[in-house]
Amino acid sequence: MRLSDCHNFHDFRKLARQRLPGPIFNYIDGAADDETTLRQNTASFERCDLVPNVLRGVQAIDMSVTVMGQRLAMPVYCSPTALQRLFHHTGERAVAAAAAKYGTMFGVSSLGTVSLEELRKAHDTPQVYQFYFHRDRGLNRAMMQRAKDAGVNVMMLTVDSITGGNRERDLRTGFSIPFRLTLGGMAQFAIKPMWGINYLTHEGFKLPQLDEHVDMSGGAMSIGRYFTEMLDPSMTWDDVAEMVKLWNGQFCLKGIMSVADAKRAVEIGCTGIILSNHGGRQLDGSRAAFDQLAEIVDAVGDRIDVIMDGGIQRGTHVLKALSLGAKAVGVGRFYLYPLAAAGQPGVERALGLMRTEIERDMKLMGCTSIDQLSRENLRFR
Ligand code: LAC
Repeated sequence: MRLSDCHNFHDFRKLARQRLPGPIFNYIDGAADDETTLRQNTASFERCDLVPNVLRGVQAIDMSVTVMGQRLAMPVYCSPTALQRLFHHTGERAVAAAAAKYGTMFGVSSLGTVSLEELRKAHDTPQVYQFYFHRDRGLNRAMMQRAKDAGVNVMMLTVDSITGGNRERDLRTGFSIPFRLTLGGMAQFAIKPMWGINYLTHEGFKLPQLDEHVDMSGGAMSIGRYFTEMLDPSMTWDDVAEMVKLWNGQFCLKGIMSVADAKRAVEIGCTGIILSNHGGRQLDGSRAAFDQLAEIVDAVGDRIDVIMDGGIQRGTHVLKALSLGAKAVGVGRFYLYPLAAAGQPGVERALGLMRTEIERDMKLMGCTSIDQLSRENLRFR
């Protein structure tokens, strides 16, 4: 199977599975507990049907949107994800370059393997910086200052990861940073020698957002321990309100699901909320963001930009979310499998296919711009 054989999410996933050692593939592919929420995320789009209009003159399509003050040429952006260097040696560099090519926003994770400064300098496209709330308040302030100095456009605080999700696939393989592989996990690396050669013949693994603050090397700190030891489970709305004030710019919370929380986010001055269950990787049994979207848009949609992620695999999924009132949608696995499969050309192909699908779907829906999509175009079964 080659890149040119990849026509959709499932094809990229298949190719990524061929290329990656099992423990790494399963880290991307897996989710929490029984992975019910992971499945629901995509299934939720299938409980909703599109109702098209015809004969409306649809030669020229404009799919651009403005979200949290950023103009995006397409309504899909690359959500921040951790550890991209493990998936392909070009890691975040490939994803940022592909996002820039399609004029959309990309996220840099605080667990990213390329520095936010390097990526900021390389591309003009809007950059989101994802971070967590640490016990050490000085560290939180230092990380915000660093992002400010680098010219980050949007701060994104992840609020659904106050403790690590129960990812049983990772427990079985021993996936952690550094690797503490089980015997079975090791064997799975051994049967993908190309990955190992590639990994070892390129720049070493780093976590430049954290390296100066946290010792993640030398065997000490795994990702799980980072969550349990470094992050502050006592964090409250007052703490976040202080950060929002300090940042004094575009600031969003990722992982909001309830109406009450959405209202609090407005009250403390956030400019965006991301409805998200973290790709099903945190609280299994959590509702799909798409199912929860209308309720949130009705409550706060006129005061804050409502964005969602989770389960998006198709242009029609994007149109359904935008019809309900989302301002844009984020994707994670949608670009990670292509990254793993083929680096930058892979991510470009995935974003290109998404763009083509959205354009075709808008024509078939009878609309030429995103603001023409509305709930009149949707029916729930
Ligand atoms: C994850 C964290 C790192 O989902 O966001 O693996």
